[in-house]
Amino acid sequence: QKHIISIPDLSRQELELIVDTAQSIKQQPRPELLKNKVVASCFFEASTRTRLSFETAVQRLGGSVIGFADGGNTSLGKKGETLVDSVKVISSYSDAFFMRHPQEGAARLASEFSSVPVVNGGDGSNQHPTQTLLDLFTIYETQGSLEGLKVAFVGDLKYGRTVHSLTQALSLFGCEFYFIAPKALAMPDYIIEELNEREITYSLHDSIEEVVNELDILYMTRVQKERFDETEYQHMKSSFILRANMLEQVKDNLKILHPLPRVDEITTDVDITPYAYYFEQAENGVYARQALLALIMTNEFGAQ
Ligand code: CP
Repeated sequence: QKHIISIPDLSRQELELIVDTAQSIKQQPRPELLKNKVVASCFFEASTRTRLSFETAVQRLGGSVIGFADGGNTSLGKKGETLVDSVKVISSYSDAFFMRHPQEGAARLASEFSSVPVVNGGDGSNQHPTQTLLDLFTIYETQGSLEGLKVAFVGDLKYGRTVHSLTQALSLFGCEFYFIAPKALAMPDYIIEELNEREITYSLHDSIEEVVNELDILYMTRVQKERFDETEYQHMKSSFILRANMLEQVKDNLKILHPLPRVDEITTDVDITPYAYYFEQAENGVYARQALLALIMTNEFGAQ
């Protein structure tokens, strides 16, 4: 069975298949695909988009959802049950298991004990592979290709798990990267080492203005408040803010993405520019997660 834990577990062909399927499901809904299937949705860390788009995805494919939004209020959170025991039990009730957990590696551990496919909805500051699937779909939808794009990542590149997963995925498609972050929140060494090993072009910058006019995709992120103490957070937040007046000479095809939630890193005057695409991106979470469920839960998809 296929677990979705980390982007490097997926091939370029599988990523392309998910993007194509997301596009097809967006155009032509499949309300019967998961009929009689039960999917567990277990969140041990806060979420709005990931949980609700995932649960919408299941329901619009005709399946049903069990689970919880607040792992603190479970036998694990209140009575000392281990994650492993919880996973053994919940997977026996369901046909797939979707989880978010604050600890890095929690989803990988769960996959070793689950009797059904496990999907990682975010593990600490490590990986967020399903966000990457919806990001890839959104980039394809707006650019018509994933190949050879100029992509900037801005903000908290250290703790922002979405940028780790997306950099790994886009590096399979010959994209060029621009990293813009405070020094203390730079991209982790292991990602930089992977790019060096594969001779992928990237550069480091101190401001958005330095590069914005060259870009196809500008991917903004928030400073991850939940990974800092309050003093450190106050020092780091608002490091890079995108305003509409910085977009006067950008390329026509530029799209601004953000995994959301935003705090103050994109001012609301950007929302009404033709470049803002973050709310459409969030909607695409439903289609990308439907495509993923189709891949891991139906034979039909594997035969395509
Ligand atoms: N993009 C994202 O993961 O949002 P949530 O934390 O609201 O799920």
